[in-house]
Amino acid sequence: MIAMDKFDPKSFIEERIVWLRNEIGCEDAIVALSGGVDSSVTAMLGFKAIGSRLKPIFLDDGFMRIGESDRVRIIFDKLGVKVHVYDVEDEFLGALRGVRDAEEKRKRFRETFYRVLSRIARELGVRVVLQGTIAADIVETRRGVKTQHNVLEQIGIDPLRSYGFKVIEPLKDLYKDQVRLVARELGLPDEVVKRKPFPGPGLSIRILGEVTSDKLSVIKKATAIVDEELSDIDCFQAFPVLLEGMATGLSRDGGRKYGYMIALRIVESEDAMTARYMKLDWSRLEKVRDKLIAEIPEVSRVLYDITDKPPATIEFE
Ligand code: XMP
Repeated sequence: MIAMDKFDPKSFIEERIVWLRNEIGCEDAIVALSGGVDSSVTAMLGFKAIGSRLKPIFLDDGFMRIGESDRVRIIFDKLGVKVHVYDVEDEFLGALRGVRDAEEKRKRFRETFYRVLSRIARELGVRVVLQGTIAADIVETRRGVKTQHNVLEQIGIDPLRSYGFKVIEPLKDLYKDQVRLVARELGLPDEVVKRKPFPGPGLSIRILGEVTSDKLSVIKKATAIVDEELSDIDCFQAFPVLLEGMATGLSRDGGRKYGYMIALRIVESEDAMTARYMKLDWSRLEKVRDKLIAEIPEVSRVLYDITDKPPATIEFE
């Protein structure tokens, strides 16, 4: 790992471009963009290294925020890069159907992700994948905290043997704050540089327990509301989680309502390894609560998580 005070993004970029050219050789490569800063930086380094031999793709797995694939396409269009979007939602929903255990969900997501990637790589005749894995992903997976969707070799899975491609990870020694410095140096727009982290398995791990299309629709609407209401908050992450079980409430006409429970998670952190819950003004929380209840009739309760990391993790699953 590179210490923050010794980190120079400019020389990191120069050194990584040379390293990437060596690693990739004369092969073509693909990079799966997610809209986040890690995969965007990986793609930009890849372009600098091998130009149009790098093919950027976006796997629309159905667990992204509303409108995410269009957003990514537009951002990269402006940078002169055409992103090919693959609609693979049914495959992911099918793989997670009936699964309740958090770690099992993560494993199924990872397997589906690489199976789909492997198929696309074969279709495109590509045997190299660039991936934006960062140090925190590897540390957490190795410590057995949780299976990050993008960690393979570090836990003994050989991607070449299992999926037919070599994985190259130019950011694996960096933490999030360092990746943001590189993103800025590469000229990526603020929208990407400051983008809050979003887990690889997306909203699937923000629906506790079994994923259904009904719950997915609720968490998508809730995520859009939280993003819109709290976009100006200077925090590391702010997001809703759909809890398991239902809670009684009162409907507008005074009758009994049995609805979903949403927990709000808003944390401050530098590197995701530790985090503090944010002491946000109550009036801001109340505004989010009102909007969630008013705009999503299936929701009956909104709770605020006041747990730090440790002892909790940032995500709930
Ligand atoms: P936790 O929940 O482990 O999360 O405290 C630490 C940071 O990592 C993000 N996260 C993931 N990112 N793939 C990713 O790329 C994953 O599987 C994954 N799981 C968690 C989480 O949002 C937080 O920023």
